[in-house]
Amino acid sequence: MVASEPPDDRRDETTLGHMGWSPGQPPPSAAPDDTSASAAQPPARRVVRQPAYGERAGSYDRETGRYQDFRRAIVGALPVRPGQLVLDVGCGTGLCFGLLLEKVGPDGAVTGIEESPEMAAIARERIEQEGWRNVTVLQSRAEDAETAPTADAALFCAVHDILQSQAAVQNVMSQLCSGAWVAAGGGKWAASWMAALNLATMILHAPYVRSFEGFDRPWRHLEQFLEDVSIRDIAFGSGYVLTGHAPRPPGPGRGAGPG
Ligand SMILES: C[S@@+](CC[C@H](N)C(=O)[O-])C[C@H]1O[C@@H](n2cnc3c(N)ncnc32)[C@H](O)[C@@H]1O
Repeated sequence: MVASEPPDDRRDETTLGHMGWSPGQPPPSAAPDDTSASAAQPPARRVVRQPAYGERAGSYDRETGRYQDFRRAIVGALPVRPGQLVLDVGCGTGLCFGLLLEKVGPDGAVTGIEESPEMAAIARERIEQEGWRNVTVLQSRAEDAETAPTADAALFCAVHDILQSQAAVQNVMSQLCSGAWVAAGGGKWAASWMAALNLATMILHAPYVRSFEGFDRPWRHLEQFLEDVSIRDIAFGSGYVLTGHAPRPPGPGRGAGPG
């Protein structure tokens, strides 16, 4: 439980009351488009809560393993080459490790950054069981993590809370080499008229986010650190895949400005 949270402010799976919403109220019409974001924010009241990464870490794979195709789509979008080092930011139990290893190969490496001790422990068990010698887990908040050497790429898969933390995004980006590629993906609000889809999206993601704040545009902090940003809707707009890269040093033919 986070320090700012009142003791009785627990997850409530039946009413989503922790999100400031219950079935007796109009459902979160959510789904703002870029021009009407405030009108469609789901819960008016922002309630910071602790998602289910502690006590329910043991059931995370069973509950979310079925979304492996989405993870594959997000990892697949990351332009990373054999031999490179990739950060898996908010790696959870390590469900993206195998997908990343397919790309970086035996000469590359994956470093997971994970805040929850329970999730990190399961990720380490996975590494042990698979016999992966080039995968490590750094148990740390993304805001504080220090990785070395500088990484060639970063993955933000289903980590809405981390993406809402400017400090976390800034710190991770500072651990990357210039020009490093980044891929991010996860849930977001679909178009505002797709109320049923947005309600299903809210129920699906509620156990795994602290707040739906920023769910209309989850990449708003990340995109400030990237160039050549490309964002693709998936699942009828209830998810997204983003790619972009860190700035590259000016060079010949790259249009560097005067001075
Ligand atoms: C929904 S899970 C996603 C896990 C994994 N990326 C996946 O695809 O299954 C989000 C993870 O981010 C972690 N997390 C949340 N905030 C964090 C932070 N500030 N720093 C590091 N990890 C964080 C949570 O503990 C959780 O394991």
